[in-house]
Amino acid sequence: MEKKRISFSNSLGFVLAAAGSAVGLGNIWRFPYLAAKDGGGLFLVIYMILVLTFGFALLTTELAIGRKTKQSPLTAYRSVHPKFGFLGLLACIVPMLIIPYYSAIGGWVLKYFMVFITGKGTEAASDGYFTGFITMDYQPMIYMAIFLLATAVVVYFGVEKGIEKVSRVLMPILVILVVGIAVFSLTITHTDESGNVRTGLEGLKIYLIPSLEGKGIKDVAVVIMDAMGQLFYSLSIAMGIMVAYGSYVRDDDNLMKSINRIELFDTLIAFFAGVMIIPSVFAFMGREGLDASGPGLMFVSMPRVFMEMGAAGFVIGTVFFLMVIFAALTSCISIMEAIVSSFMDKFHISRKKATIIETLIALVVGAIVCMGYNKLYFEIPLPNGSTAQILDILDYLSNNVIMPILAIGTCILIGWVTGPKYVVDEVTKTGDRFGRKGLYIVMIRFVAPVLLFLLLLKATGVI
Ligand code: PHE
Repeated sequence: MEKKRISFSNSLGFVLAAAGSAVGLGNIWRFPYLAAKDGGGLFLVIYMILVLTFGFALLTTELAIGRKTKQSPLTAYRSVHPKFGFLGLLACIVPMLIIPYYSAIGGWVLKYFMVFITGKGTEAASDGYFTGFITMDYQPMIYMAIFLLATAVVVYFGVEKGIEKVSRVLMPILVILVVGIAVFSLTITHTDESGNVRTGLEGLKIYLIPSLEGKGIKDVAVVIMDAMGQLFYSLSIAMGIMVAYGSYVRDDDNLMKSINRIELFDTLIAFFAGVMIIPSVFAFMGREGLDASGPGLMFVSMPRVFMEMGAAGFVIGTVFFLMVIFAALTSCISIMEAIVSSFMDKFHISRKKATIIETLIALVVGAIVCMGYNKLYFEIPLPNGSTAQILDILDYLSNNVIMPILAIGTCILIGWVTGPKYVVDEVTKTGDRFGRKGLYIVMIRFVAPVLLFLLLLKATGVI
């Protein structure tokens, strides 16, 4: 007799935990930047269409596989079909590659929070501060370790007492903070040295109004690819996480309803992150300020914006980094849970043991990631044209190579081998309706695998 698998206490607990996973650094530092680069509203519209079709199909598939098999990613795929066990291996490798660098970045956020709360925000806004910090010998490692240990403690306490409990507290606070800062950002008016006045509301226009100016078919294709890559990462798809979380969903939960809520939650937070960042960066730094992405936006532009705000900037900056810590922490928890649950199911070890083992592995690899900016510094070109350090290599391998392959494999497995009925039956077994069922079938069999293949070709520099 198999032991009954533990579960989230109810669907709200599950939705908040899954949304906690989905809402992370991707929503805050990548979505707004892509929107500004890719023609504002044009990107937003394409993104929303993709969420409701492509994202919806993949998210539904993974959660259904999890709930049906009641297994962790490493073992679930094999139990769907014996020939597809390798997908489980990929779904366990991806989070193991992601967690060390996600924790390293989590550590940077923690550092900036400390800097702002101790009133030293001005330093963080000075030239070269960010590079100075990440190239230090030990500090980045210490912050990474603190972030990783905080994650481990939550996972150690398990699904209901750890993950669900933390998500129930942090997610509502996160929503309030994001919306609060977004509203503030719209009230900004700033006059620069040459007397130009720029307002947050003008920045909002750049963000919201679709701009097709000078955009040909090829540019629109780029926007679609960008939106798809972002969506993939943002919904935490193709990294085993949603299979793991799906396995903790109660059999009497209405899966479709939860999925709609998770998508809505993730998209709204990404949208408000844009309202929070684009208007303020535009008002204080002009159009050029918006060109920075990723670490540059978060750790260089934002501190400058806060310092321009004067005294209020210390408070807003502290609140901002606190919010980012929450977003990153709930995501990191889900990454670790995917690995820990895999270790537990595969090697039949306790949660405690699995958590300790994975934390030790992640600490070692995380330390190597941190050293990638000092002792182990090197730069290599990637097939997609950018140059990379250790952190970027892990990010590239996981996001651009393995994740699309895993997602294509999943589409083939469900679309063609078991047939979409596998997922449809799981979703409707509670007697609830499967809205968009026809769409789901077309997506999983035809559209999603083709789009994913194009994404893979683009990410690996083939096209
Ligand atoms: N979905 C998260 C985000 O938007 C990213 C993430 C990556 C979450 C890996 C879990 C695992 O930032």
